[in-house]
Amino acid sequence: MADLASLASLATEIAREAGALAKRRRTEGVAIAATKSSLADIVTEADREVEELIRSRIAAERPDDGFLGEESGTTAAGEITWVVDPIDGTVNYAAGIPQYAVSIGIVAGDTPSPDWETIVGVVFNPVTGELFSATQGGGAWLGDAKLHVARVGEAGALLATGFGYNPATHDGDIAAAARALPLARDLRRMGAASLDLAFVAAGRLDGYFERGLQPWDHAAGALLVREAGGIVRFAPADEFGRTLTVASGPELADSLWKAALG
Ligand code: 2AM
Ligand code: CA
Repeated sequence: MADLASLASLATEIAREAGALAKRRRTEGVAIAATKSSLADIVTEADREVEELIRSRIAAERPDDGFLGEESGTTAAGEITWVVDPIDGTVNYAAGIPQYAVSIGIVAGDTPSPDWETIVGVVFNPVTGELFSATQGGGAWLGDAKLHVARVGEAGALLATGFGYNPATHDGDIAAAARALPLARDLRRMGAASLDLAFVAAGRLDGYFERGLQPWDHAAGALLVREAGGIVRFAPADEFGRTLTVASGPELADSLWKAALG
């Protein structure tokens, strides 16, 4: 296996190229290519094109590594697997809301599981130019600034969450939000899980919880949170098959977990 620093620098380089392509396609106008699980769950041509760029760059540089991408699935298991969301926050992207990111995680091994060991994580928002990165044991960074999760202030926690694309799940998600509100100073719903997790790592948010994330949504962001001193937990799937992800600093972890889980 290559050393973590060189894997991280390759992931960073590819995330920057991919983000630049996504941003360029956005300025050219976005066409919805297809809907996936429901009408709200869309994919654009740019999602596919950006994932293809990432996949081919990895294949050229590290042909023996595995790949798992949101749009194109998985190929050839390797000693390490690149877990990629080319555009996280696709609904924002399509609507022209500048809260989306390229998310690239590198995990040890080849079998998807919630407790996958991520060794490198990069989350890049090409609109703001912010690049969040972490290596296992090497801390989490926003550019040159080392990240630390926040300590919750007296006014309560600034939380974020998300709602599933499937309308049948909305009641449960709203109930979880209602249980979390007593802990909260306020609650955000920004629409890009990788950035929500990066913001927890950066101490901008105190906590984040959402059901229905896929490995490519949280692989990079979960490492960011853990390397910034935070805790990320996953609960088994609910009746809709959706895993719960909860991330925060240590002091909020238990109460937020209980509220989100219900
Ligand atoms: P996406 O933009 O790549 O689809 C929105 O709440 C966040 O959750 C986004 O990061 C979105 O990723 C992700 N997500 C993944 N699967 C989802 C689902 N079934 N319902 C809602 N959000 C989902
Ligand atoms: Ca996506």
